Amino acid sequence: MKRTSIIYIFLSASFILALGCAVYFYNQAQKYDEKLVTATSNGSSPTYHFALIGEEMDHVYWRSVGEGAKEKEAEYNVFIEYEGPKRSNPEEQLKLLDMAIKSKVDGIIVQALNDKFTPLINQAVDQGIPVMTVDTDAPESKRSAYIGTDNYEAGRLAGNTLVKETEGKATVGIITGRFANAHHQLRIEGFKEILEKTEGIEIVAMEESNIDRVGAEEQAYKMLREHPNITAFYGTSTLDGVGITAAAKKLNRLDDLYVITFDRSDENVQLLQSGAINALVEQQPYQMGNRSVEIMMDIIKGKPVEEMHHTDATIIRKSDLLYENAQEGETS
Ligand code: BGC
Repeated sequence: MKRTSIIYIFLSASFILALGCAVYFYNQAQKYDEKLVTATSNGSSPTYHFALIGEEMDHVYWRSVGEGAKEKEAEYNVFIEYEGPKRSNPEEQLKLLDMAIKSKVDGIIVQALNDKFTPLINQAVDQGIPVMTVDTDAPESKRSAYIGTDNYEAGRLAGNTLVKETEGKATVGIITGRFANAHHQLRIEGFKEILEKTEGIEIVAMEESNIDRVGAEEQAYKMLREHPNITAFYGTSTLDGVGITAAAKKLNRLDDLYVITFDRSDENVQLLQSGAINALVEQQPYQMGNRSVEIMMDIIKGKPVEEMHHTDATIIRKSDLLYENAQEGETS
């Protein structure tokens, strides 16, 4: 082989190798960029940063609120910093609100558990941070809007259901999350409004569970011992029904008690299925989180926003579960 041919082959091979290397490193660089893009949501740093503050992170209801909000992140190029105490703790929740104000987020979506939230909400708004409330409202504050259940109406709905299903004859015990919680107060007021109109019904006791299943069980147990004539219970938050039915089981009262409580958690659905719970008030936590982001975006963009956004509250009974299962069977 001539010397020039050898040089020619050598140069061609080097060129092909160099080209291969260039293609390989270009692809690697592209992949790295893609990773960065994914990490910063939608190709760039998020345009907005919202704080969403709920009652407790370790709770099926609040996980749903968070998932609903997060689902909107990409659409609006917003980062939702979702925080809350691990277990319900209003003081810690207030501190998170304070921190959100100090870190100058673009918007705050907060569950305003009690009166103490109003001054901090006002402080945020005075500093130019728009605030809306979720699940529990602070109507006296400067917040722009509320999204969640109409808690007074939900109480009335529970009252009407109990009256109808006990045929207007019941001796009632109430287990509520906390007396100081604004939404629980409304759920009780609405419930009482209906029961007071019914002659054969009397409320004989009311205690707080402290948003805790053991608390609910202890209070229901004590109540049933002190008032063995109780024939019906009303629970105003997710874990109350679990506690009420556990106490009733211990005292052999499961079969003759009527129980109505809040929220469609898996545990509550199982208790409904087994007949230990008679009815649930179902709220829409996913929708609360999801729509709260849309509303906050409208507020930020200066669009006119309605003050009250009530999500549905409906009653579910065992018969509804059977119907749902049959529907699912048909579509699968
Ligand atoms: C309430 C929430 C509460 C949850 C857990 C729900 O019924 O709407 O505010 O955090 O129960 O107790």
